[in-house]
Amino acid sequence: PRTLIPFVSLFLGPSDGLHSHSLLLDEERGRLLLGARDHIYLLDPDNLARAPRKIYWPASRDRVEMCKLAGKNVNLECANFVRALHNFNRTHVYACGTGAFHPNCAFIEDGVFQLLSGTVESGRLKCPFDPLQPFTSVLADQYLYAGTSSDFLGKDTTFTRSLGPPPDQHYIRTDISEDYWINEARFISAHPIADTYNPDDDKIYFFFREVSWEGNDKSILSRVARVCKNDVGGLRSLTNKWTTFLKARLVCSIPGPDGVDTHFDELQDIFLLPTRDDKNPVVYAVFTTSSSIFRGSAVCVYSMADIRAAFNGPYAHKEGPDHRWVEYEGRIPYPRPGTCPSKTYDPKIKTTKDFPDEVVSFIRFHPLMYRSVYPLTGRPVFTRVRVDYVLTQIVVDRVLAEDGQYEVMFLGTDAGSVLKVVSITQENWSTEEVVLEELQIFQVPTTILSMEMSSKQQQLYVGSGQGLAQVSLSRCNLYGQACAECCLARDPYCAWDGHTCSRYVPASKRRARRQDIKHGDPASQCWDTEDSIRVEERVLFAVQNNSTFLECIAKSQQAQITWFIQRPGSELKEEVRKSDAKLFQIKEKFVAWKKYICIVWLSTNYHFKQSK
Ligand SMILES: *[C@@H]1O[C@H](CO)[C@@H](O)[C@H](O)[C@H]1NC(C)=O
Ligand SMILES: *[C@@H]1O[C@H](CO)[C@@H](O)[C@H](O)[C@H]1NC(C)=O
Ligand SMILES: *[C@@H]1O[C@H](CO)[C@@H](O)[C@H](O)[C@H]1NC(C)=O
Ligand SMILES: *[C@@H]1O[C@H](CO)[C@@H](O)[C@H](O)[C@H]1NC(C)=O
Repeated sequence: PRTLIPFVSLFLGPSDGLHSHSLLLDEERGRLLLGARDHIYLLDPDNLARAPRKIYWPASRDRVEMCKLAGKNVNLECANFVRALHNFNRTHVYACGTGAFHPNCAFIEDGVFQLLSGTVESGRLKCPFDPLQPFTSVLADQYLYAGTSSDFLGKDTTFTRSLGPPPDQHYIRTDISEDYWINEARFISAHPIADTYNPDDDKIYFFFREVSWEGNDKSILSRVARVCKNDVGGLRSLTNKWTTFLKARLVCSIPGPDGVDTHFDELQDIFLLPTRDDKNPVVYAVFTTSSSIFRGSAVCVYSMADIRAAFNGPYAHKEGPDHRWVEYEGRIPYPRPGTCPSKTYDPKIKTTKDFPDEVVSFIRFHPLMYRSVYPLTGRPVFTRVRVDYVLTQIVVDRVLAEDGQYEVMFLGTDAGSVLKVVSITQENWSTEEVVLEELQIFQVPTTILSMEMSSKQQQLYVGSGQGLAQVSLSRCNLYGQACAECCLARDPYCAWDGHTCSRYVPASKRRARRQDIKHGDPASQCWDTEDSIRVEERVLFAVQNNSTFLECIAKSQQAQITWFIQRPGSELKEEVRKSDAKLFQIKEKFVAWKKYICIVWLSTNYHFKQSK
């Protein structure tokens, strides 16, 4: 059962819903920009319900007419859906919209919050034509990197660089002459990441899924790819194309009992969890299965070291269109293809235009690495199979608790809900995934399209076609009013403070807080409190010759419920069934009087009801 939670606040957007949208959360300046249909809204992250300032930016009437003539949907496609919002510099934001299947981009001046109409320019290769096509972009050092389709039909998909400080403002893109590079891609995310201490080595890592022809089978595979930030294209060939593009497969699978792995091949979302070393964020990825019969989702976690190892390993080689990819065993030209040009590394190679021809032609036909990237633990850290929803979004928070640091995952679904999950590693290195909360954010089942987290505000912003909701990262008070209940919840955000279950603040000078995330054992924490775990028996009598419906509902996801039966004239309590579920039901036609006993861990705050 999912908890239907009240939002802290909600923004509904235009009267006919949000549909596709983009978010720019700026914690420093305390603002949240939302790009939607024909509008950009300036929201207050403290209260989304407060009337926002807005910029009206529609598509031109001509474009809307042409879009309609092309047979597109008037409401869902023939408008300007704002899909990219980036802080450009201290005073300007760069925005791109689909412009009724004619993308355009423009600058917004922060102070006055106005679109600078003189700066409107073509958004082709920066923004998709289609409002719903997966797309990603990132702005770094005033350059815009985008993974997008570049045509009306959405067939040609490419990773591009544009903008940048004058004078070298020209497009760089992936090669289209071969389908080796990027084929019918769905771009998920892009991130500037330094590889070494030398800024010449800085790269953009990006993630996508694409249609792949392995052998003769068409399948969808997920990829991590990278390009050098200082790539300016080739001189004689690959002019204005990346000359440092490499990609590798991202694998997320569970070994099966019969040796057949279950693969989660379709990447849905990526979250980079920062570490103290900004070269090595932890990569969290959400995947779904491709199979129409077997619906499932998984979260896999990767290290940058493993990703780099794949790029430093052997290249894959394909003899021709009808051949399979095999390991390339020939001579590798110098400098190693995929290496960024660096004066300190080789004084003769100052830019990618100085690369020898054989390096450029090698990369053209060998963009794929032979080895795949596997998850850190060899398998997913969390899976959901045989449920009626799939995972679509992820954000991860690092939470400091009394007994250590935990990574809490917030996972958006296509059913309008968010799962809050913590992965706990025990002393013997076995890990346990605990679902802390299952929050039904939107009452109507709807796909969660975006999620942003503000650590500063302790808020999660969750967007769907229904609107944008603001939800607190924790609801400690809902775990009940007893120390043991708080402890059983195992939520690293929450601790028993002597009076209530409340937000745990590390390094606070308050007296010891009671919390046990690792084991969730109230006996070790709540032994001296008044409400220590007194196992309470609830007795129910079933009615003779009738069927009875008995229910025992506990609040915490982690509470245990045990049912016993006591036969007439007997002192013996026989265990009927044990269930981890919050809800346990007995439905049976009784032929004799029977005493049923429902035992929950605690005396307080368990809803209890009996119905027929
Ligand atoms: C920010 O960029 C805009 C657009 O290029 C430019 O007009 C403005 O002067 C820049 N502001 C600063 C502070 O550099
Ligand atoms: C590790 O310990 C947990 C309890 O702390 C136990 O349930 C689990 O079976 C153990 N796993 C292994 C591999 O020993
Ligand atoms: C219950 O049903 C049994 C037979 O099915 C009958 O002998 C008995 O009298 C019934 N008891 C009551 C209280 O109706
Ligand atoms: C059996 O249950 C039905 C429906 O709840 C009720 O109307 C009826 O009175 C019950 N019969 C007995 C014998 O308690």
